[in-house]
Amino acid sequence: MRVSIVSALAIAVTGVTSLPRYLNATSPGFPNPSLAQLVAIEKQAGGSLPNGPLPTSLKAAAITALNLLANNELFEVAFFSELLANITNNVPGYDEDAMGPHCSKPFAIKAISAILAQEEIHAIAANALLHSAGQPPIAPCQYSFPVTDFPSAILLAETFTDIALGTVPAVQVIFATDGGVEVGNVPLLGSILAQEAEQTGWFRALQQKTPSAAPFLTGGSADYAFTALQDFIVPESCPTPLSTIPLTRFKPLTVTTKPEARTMTLEFQVPYDPAETVTAQQNALVYLSGQNLPLTVPIINPVRFGNLTVFSASFPFDSGFANGLTIAAVVNGTGNFTTDDAVAAATLYGPGLILVN
Ligand SMILES: *[C@@H]1O[C@H](CO)[C@@H](O)[C@H](O)[C@H]1NC(C)=O
Ligand SMILES: *[C@@H]1O[C@H](CO)[C@@H](O)[C@H](O)[C@H]1NC(C)=O
Ligand SMILES: *[C@@H]1O[C@H](CO)[C@@H](O)[C@H](O)[C@H]1NC(C)=O
Ligand SMILES: *[C@@H]1O[C@H](CO)[C@@H](O)[C@H](O)[C@H]1NC(C)=O
Ligand SMILES: *[C@@H]1O[C@H](CO)[C@@H](O)[C@H](O)[C@H]1NC(C)=O
Repeated sequence: MRVSIVSALAIAVTGVTSLPRYLNATSPGFPNPSLAQLVAIEKQAGGSLPNGPLPTSLKAAAITALNLLANNELFEVAFFSELLANITNNVPGYDEDAMGPHCSKPFAIKAISAILAQEEIHAIAANALLHSAGQPPIAPCQYSFPVTDFPSAILLAETFTDIALGTVPAVQVIFATDGGVEVGNVPLLGSILAQEAEQTGWFRALQQKTPSAAPFLTGGSADYAFTALQDFIVPESCPTPLSTIPLTRFKPLTVTTKPEARTMTLEFQVPYDPAETVTAQQNALVYLSGQNLPLTVPIINPVRFGNLTVFSASFPFDSGFANGLTIAAVVNGTGNFTTDDAVAAATLYGPGLILVN
């Protein structure tokens, strides 16, 4: 076999075979399958698209929420398609040894093939709702995932699925209260919520965590999901620019201490912004955990290091935090918030993602 110098160099540098960076195992025809292709995806997914009538009009808030959900489902499709390709193509780090004691490669392929097809159907369903209401459907962007082995991919899948589990209930509230016919689709959102929870139970079990994390999972807000999603999207790669969706992308809040399931102090960092210096007097850190009221704690000792502001804050886990995902946010003011949406409305930096147990 003849190998060009460039590809030989690529092998030498990365130590892996010359597989393309973005392997793609989405189903034939996705995201616009023919009827026959859709039947094949449904078979792989273990069930069909809902066959009832779709709303022919939607309120503005529901359209915004569906734009977010469609983008999120398309991102999940890309992730699971790449994960499946990595496993089936024996990419280093994705072999059976990396899967832990309770998962075989054939089972992982079977499970992730089903999840991939289910996410494809979710994306098609979100776009069908938009289309039926006369809205343009969302096309896939290009994505990049900060993982290079099976364990880190599964931890990432747990994290982004937990964010979705906090966002879909917020979308249910929108559908139920905006006065539109979309109130009839609240149960559909509930069935997606439960379906994603089945997935995350498996992701947790693969990591030897209790499959169900806590009695009540952490909520959220559409703006947090919109922000988190964009960490995985190649900038300017979306055919439907994300800037056309009227949601807020916050500046990043990074948790730099490894959190543990106990009350402790955590270190955080945010980009330094001379126009918006983070201070203990003007800002606070807020946690969303379980279905508790948002918990506000003071920012301790913010210090600028180059283009970053670094500070610490108490993480009062023992005061009733949920296992699994907790969301942190730096807010404007030191206010005492009663709803997740009120926290999001005051957020400057976030969501900081904390996963324990
Ligand atoms: C991955 O899939 C997308 C959407 O189907 C397609 O546009 C893209 O060309 C594919 N990339 C590769 C490397 O196959
Ligand atoms: C697939 O493997 C490639 C090469 O290691 C990696 O860059 C990519 O992030 C992996 N994707 C997933 C979803 O694990
Ligand atoms: C911040 O500074 C670091 C180190 O000098 C640099 O690598 C990074 O790109 C900078 N980030 C921004 C957002 O300017
Ligand atoms: C913070 O809140 C104050 C008082 O409500 C407001 O005047 C100010 O513009 C806000 N700052 C930012 C950065 O949102
Ligand atoms: C926050 O609000 C609650 C209930 O309204 C009140 O009991 C508590 O004292 C307030 N905390 C602060 C720091 O203002």
